Amino acid sequence: MIETNIDLQPHNTLAVSARSAHFARVQTLEQLREALAFARERQLPILPLGGGSNIVLTGDFPGLAIQVDLRGFSLIAGDSGYSVEAAAGENWHQLVMATVQKGLGGLENLALIPGKIGAAPIQNIGAYGIELCDRFVSLQAMEVVSGTLHEFSAQDCAFSYRDSVFKGSLRDKYIITQVNLYLPGVWQAHVDYPALRQYLAEQNWNANALTPAQVAQAVIEIRNSKLPLPDRIPNAGSFFKNPIVDNTSYQTLKAEHPDLVAFAAGDRWKLAAGWLIDRAGWRGIRRNAVGVHELQALVLINPGRGAGSEVTQLAEEIVEDVHAKFGVSLEPEPRYYP
Ligand code: FAD
Ligand code: EPU
Repeated sequence: MIETNIDLQPHNTLAVSARSAHFARVQTLEQLREALAFARERQLPILPLGGGSNIVLTGDFPGLAIQVDLRGFSLIAGDSGYSVEAAAGENWHQLVMATVQKGLGGLENLALIPGKIGAAPIQNIGAYGIELCDRFVSLQAMEVVSGTLHEFSAQDCAFSYRDSVFKGSLRDKYIITQVNLYLPGVWQAHVDYPALRQYLAEQNWNANALTPAQVAQAVIEIRNSKLPLPDRIPNAGSFFKNPIVDNTSYQTLKAEHPDLVAFAAGDRWKLAAGWLIDRAGWRGIRRNAVGVHELQALVLINPGRGAGSEVTQLAEEIVEDVHAKFGVSLEPEPRYYP
């Protein structure tokens, strides 16, 4: 079951070639437990893998990469809505489309996000005005040190923008095995996100008579118009989080740059990192194998299938330049390994 010296290039959407000392694909909870025991006995670090769309391999991985391939999902009708229970290895977008095709609303804004169900809570995936936490009920996860299963409520997960307890105090401590969501019976379209509203207006769609399938279609078309498909141009989506700054910093920047794009986030402001990087002049640049996507400056690309270090070097240059030009610190969104 455990393979050795495996190239992870097919397992990460940046298409970085890096070898894992050990590799296991697990399809049952028992196999996952055995894989964790194997790593524990040898004191190996582990790398849980879904679709590899939010990781950067900066070198060979000296431990055990575990491809979590648990399958199966169910949609259960309740009194006032639907419960969705999905195993960690199911594809996120396929789950979204399965609900939408049944006429069920709630996940449509999150269509076409790459990756697996099990990774969705790690950074509380979000797009077009909705985050996973808006539909989240609970998850099951296996504790790495003991192999026992635990249940986590939404509160336990401590979700916030692109963050959860699994990136903080419980980092590397649990493998998510199942995620449970709830889709309200009474559906309302959420189409306030500027690009979505603009797209619907251009299509002359009646915002009051939309179906979940139409919203999903709109989201898919907007995404396809600017985000590169990893199969064709390797990438990891947004490479940086949108930085959140206080009101004073926002007002100062806005006075200097009246066309700055920002969204209110409580009493603070979330700045569009793509705008900052674009304005700093990076959109479309190439550095040997890697570069910045010409249609979305927040997306770093690896068309030449270079090493992860080429990607992280470019990212560092961008961070320094954006800080020098705007005084704003950018933080990478994908996790670096090892
Ligand atoms: P992986 O990259 O395999 O893993 C990500 C992290 O989660 C790693 O640290 C990994 O160890 C950990 N992990 C994976 N599975 C488990 C598990 N079962 N248990 C414990 N830990 C686990 N994200 C958004 O939020 N919104 C977007 O709109 C969006 N658009 C994207 C567009 C593109 C083109 C790309 C390439 C990425 C985009 N992303 C987006 C990022 C990415 O799709 C999400 O973060 C997704 O949830 C990652 O899923 P994955 O299965 O590929 O995770
Ligand atoms: N912009 C530019 N130039 C660019 C890129 C963007 O000026 O090169 C401007 C756009 O014109 C727009 C604003 O920046 O006014 C925001 O752009 P966009 O709507 O494309 O969204 P984003 O902030 O760049 C975020 C998420 C995406 C998510 C979209 C839609 C983060 C880090 N990224 O991108 O998530 O799909 O919103 O909700 O929050 C991901 O996490 O991997 C990801 C793709």
